[in-house]
Formats: sequence, structure tokens, C-alpha cells
Amino acid sequence: MNNFMLFCCSSVVLFTCAQRTLPPPCDSEIYCAGDILHQVQTAKLFDDDKYFVDMKLRANPDIVLSAFHNLSSVSPNMTVPSTKLQEFLDTYFEKPGKEFESWTPPDWHDKPKFLAKIADQELHTWAEKIHHLWKSLGRKIRADVKDHPQLYSQIYTPYPVIVPGGRFRELYYWDSYWVINGLLLSEMTDTAHGMIQNFLYLVNRHGFIPNGGRIYYERRSQPPFLTLMVESYYEATKDKEFLRTALPVLEQEYQFWMQNRSVRVQANGKEHILNWYNVQVGLPRPESYTDDLELAEGLSEDRREQLWADLKAGAESGWDFSSRWYVDGEGSNNGSLRDTRTSHILPTDLNSLLCRNEKKLASFHRILGDGDSAALYDQAAARRLEAIEAVLWDAERGAWFDYNLVTHSSHFEFYPSNLAPIWAECFSQPAMGEKAVQYLKDSGALRFPNGVPTSLRESGQQWDYPNAWPPLQHMLIDGKNAKQVAFDLAQRWIKTNWMAYVKYEAMFEKCFIVLTVLQLGFGWTNGVALQLLDQYGGSLTSGSSGVSSGFLLVVVFSACLLSP
Ligand SMILES: *[C@@H]1O[C@H](CO)[C@@H](O)[C@H](O)[C@H]1NC(C)=O
Ligand SMILES: *[C@@H]1O[C@H](CO)[C@@H](O)[C@H](O)[C@H]1NC(C)=O
Ligand SMILES: *[C@@H]1O[C@H](CO)[C@@H](O)[C@H](O)[C@H]1NC(C)=O
Ligand SMILES: *[C@@H]1O[C@H](CO)[C@@H](O)[C@H](O)[C@H]1NC(C)=O
Repeated sequence: MNNFMLFCCSSVVLFTCAQRTLPPPCDSEIYCAGDILHQVQTAKLFDDDKYFVDMKLRANPDIVLSAFHNLSSVSPNMTVPSTKLQEFLDTYFEKPGKEFESWTPPDWHDKPKFLAKIADQELHTWAEKIHHLWKSLGRKIRADVKDHPQLYSQIYTPYPVIVPGGRFRELYYWDSYWVINGLLLSEMTDTAHGMIQNFLYLVNRHGFIPNGGRIYYERRSQPPFLTLMVESYYEATKDKEFLRTALPVLEQEYQFWMQNRSVRVQANGKEHILNWYNVQVGLPRPESYTDDLELAEGLSEDRREQLWADLKAGAESGWDFSSRWYVDGEGSNNGSLRDTRTSHILPTDLNSLLCRNEKKLASFHRILGDGDSAALYDQAAARRLEAIEAVLWDAERGAWFDYNLVTHSSHFEFYPSNLAPIWAECFSQPAMGEKAVQYLKDSGALRFPNGVPTSLRESGQQWDYPNAWPPLQHMLIDGKNAKQVAFDLAQRWIKTNWMAYVKYEAMFEKCFIVLTVLQLGFGWTNGVALQLLDQYGGSLTSGSSGVSSGFLLVVVFSACLLSP
């Protein structure tokens, strides 16, 4: 710490020296805090701030820090001019990507059984192509990362992975759930097993699972899907030995959420414990450094630090970013990105997911013959069900809503997460499920031909209208209520993905209505498409009925542009 302060205070980057109450995103003085990060990012040498923090060091950190110190000490005000910065980078850093070797999953084979179930010929061909995409998304971390971790921002994990794709070069936590489900359908059990082993390794090492495989993600998590990954794997393999080794680690992760991400809340004269996304870590996110810096311009020291913490909590939620986390000066769910207050909110989806995890942990213990431990998790699930109904359920509106801990009131905007307890089967009365389906129909969110949007607010953020995301579509469709609504949504989503694929020969990270991110074979999009094709393969159609795909796309686009 002393070293850090000395180094830090020798610089012009005064804000890193101000009374810092929160820890940095990680301990690295190159990748997570300090002068090099600040000067390189603010000089905007690269289009994407993630580029620099993914670069590999050519020398040990102390040498790189000393070289930079020497360089800045001869510059006016210790600000290194950008030509010198570029030279410094060329000398001491290598381009991103050095940490991986490409890897073709050895368990890939060309005729997994689920393909035979897809009746529509065009969808069948398309599913084969998606199945082929796994081969291009495989990455293996080089042994050098294990031997010289100080030279990389990459976190070493022992098994090869399927990555999301595009700028996301490394493993991500919740994405992997849908990837693993797709891999299991593709009969790539060993690859799925390896990915789960990596997550178990991360829990053993960090006590929880970081957002992704980089040190700058190591103090925040993502929606806890590991238990459900193990469930999917167990369903596919019935491997009890694997379950036995995984279970204590799943419990350790659960403890992290209960000890480090839980909060007490009073409702109806009773105290409940529910969970939130809360990352008490300061400084801008290294991979989005200048965005966070600019967003906080003009704020007081305290507000700035709190905003940066809440942005990280927004990233932890997986919904980065969204009007869902806005709380304005009046305490309303309103405002702009600068009003992000993730840590003021109890989220419906996180609590539903944890409810589902508790029920799963109980059932795993029962499978392994430990009735006493199973009973403890059953009790935890029952307590959570009670808390969800006391704090999040709104009988009048017929759905569950995020709860504002500061104003003690609900946020009533439409988000697909308002239906998460249905997906998690975490509600006590069948009538609640029926009401919630009615709520969905009345919300206006079903009137879009391409899928259910993330909200009905056009905030300019990714997790808002008009974007639709694969995991949210899947969670809505997977809810066991309202079979016809589910099929209808599955049909729309498949059609949307298929047409985008036909046009661009790629799968999107999220599916429009605005097409911005174009990358080949985005992991979770593939996974969700394969699951829906498997589940509904007998009756889904590509919807093309002989019309040329070019024409169809025009129809879809104008439908999107016109909205309903
Ligand atoms: C920085 O300067 C000191 C003193 O001149 C020198 O000993 C050291 O080797 C320099 N560091 C690097 C990495 O060039
Ligand atoms: C250096 O710092 C001084 C005093 O803080 C300031 O007046 C001057 O403009 C700075 N020069 C540069 C090149 O940033
Ligand atoms: C969780 O909280 C405990 C107690 O406050 C702390 O010691 C521990 O380091 C935290 N764990 C993680 C992974 O942040
Ligand atoms: C948000 O602000 C607008 C304009 O000030 C206001 O009309 C609206 O009612 C507010 N919404 C909420 C949820 O408070």
C-alpha cells in the first residue's frame, strides 16, 4: 500500500491520491490503478479501453513501473506525450491475444442427435451451422500464463473454454450457462465439463466467481448460474461422482452471496434477508476507463466514488447498463446513466435465481443421500419465497418488482425480470403465475414481432428498449406457465435470429431491433437458439415459406423501425 501511495502521489493523477476509501478493482498497479493506466487510457491511443488492459507485459511489473516513472519524471508535469507513450507501449507491452492458443474441441462431431428432431429443413441446416460455430469459439490459455501470471491480466484457468466472441476474448460467467446448455445438446460433454471445472477452480481460488477471466474483473461477480450449470451437466450425464465433488464448491459460492451480497429488509413487521448486487470497489472500470471518468466529471469526490462502485454493481448484475438501475435525486426510478444506483435496489431476478439455486442445492443433497443438508436448503428456499412475496410481489399489478431500499418502494417499470420468479418456480400460489402471464400480456411487451424487449424505455443503454437479449428470452420462454405464449415467443426469437443469420452469416450478441454489434457466432446466442430448436424443433419454422430471405429481412427491419 505504501508503495502504491508513493508511486501514486508522484503523479499528476491526483484523484487516485485523494482519500480513497474503497479498494481498487485489483491489486495490479498497471492494469487496475495508477499512472500508466490513467495516462494510456486518457491519451485514447486505442478505440476500445479494453485493448490496453488486455495487453501482455514484456517485462516484470516493477521494471515497467520504473521505466514509466523515469519517463514521466523528465516530462513537464509528469504527463508523458503520446508519441513517447506509444514508444513505451511498444517496448513494454504486446498486443492482446498472446495469452491464448486456438483450440478445436476434440469432442465435436458432426451429427449430434438433437439435429434430427428439427423438422423444418431450413432451420435444420441453420442448426448445423450453429453447431459448427463451436469450433471457432474454442480457446485454450497458454501455459505461460500459469508460469508468469504477473505478465498478464488474464486469470489462468486450467481447461479450454468457449468464449462469447468479439471483444470478449476470455471466459465470462453467466454467458457460460447458455453456452454449456448448447454444448450439452451438441454432445460436447467434455468441453462442458471443462468449463464447469474452471468455475469450480475460480471459486476455490477467489471464494466466488469473477465476472470474467481478467484480473480487472476479480472484485465483482455476475448472476450466479454455476449451480444451474452443474444441474444441466448432471441431467445430461447422471454423473454422481462429479456432483459429489462439485457440491461443496457450489455451497461455498452460495455462502459468498449470502455473506457478501445480502441485506436485511423489513416488510409487514418482519425482517427478511434478500440479495443485491453490490461492489464496493473504487476507481473507473479499467476496461471502460475513460467512459467512467467522463461520466463522473464534475461530481464531488464521494459521489464519484459511489457512482463508480454502482457502475461495477451494474456490471455484476449482467445488465450493464440499464434504466433499471437509475434512481434520481427524488428517489424515483428515473434519470440517466449518471443516476445509476445499483446498490439501492433489491433485484427480482437475482433473488429468483438464488431461490432456484437453494432448491437445487437441496435436491443435490437428496440425490447424494444427505437428507439433513437437503432440509437446510429447503428451509432457505422457503424463507426466500416468503421474503420475495413480502417484498417484491405486488398483488394488484400481478408481478414482482425491484425494491428500492432507500425509498422503501417498488419500481414499477416493465422489465422481463419482473417475471423471473415464474422461471425460477419460486411462487406459492398457481394464481400468481396466471396473474403474471396476464401482466405480461397487458404490459405491451408482447407487441414486438422480434422478441420481448429488455424494457419499454429508450434510454440509449444496451439493456433497454429496443434491444432484446438471448438469456431474457430464454428465461421467459422457459417459465413453465402459459405454454402458448412461450411457444409464440420461441417462434419469434428463432425467426429473428435465423433471419439475422441469413443476412449476415453471424449470430448476434443481442438481437436488435437495432443492429449494432455484429460478431461471428456469439456464444450465448448460439446456446439459446440450439435449446429452443431442440425444445420446439418439431413445430418451429423459419417462417420463410419460400420467399427470398432478403425480402423477409426488409420486412423485419421495417417492422422494427416502425415499431408496433
Ligand atoms: C530508471 O532510472 C533509474 C535511475 O536512473 C535506473 O537505475 C533504472 O534502471 C531506470 N529504470 C528503467 C526500467 O529503465
Ligand atoms: C503544469 O502545471 C502548471 C501548474 O499546475 C500549469 O499551470 C501548467 O499549465 C501545466 N503544464 C502542462 C503542460 O500541463
Ligand atoms: C466476504 O466478506 C467477508 C467478511 O466481510 C470478507 O472477509 C471476505 O473477504 C469477503 N469475500 C469476498 C470474496 O469478497
Ligand atoms: C420520471 O420523470 C418524468 C419527468 O420528470 C416524470 O414525468 C415521470 O413521472 C418520472 N417517472 C417516475 C417513475 O418517477
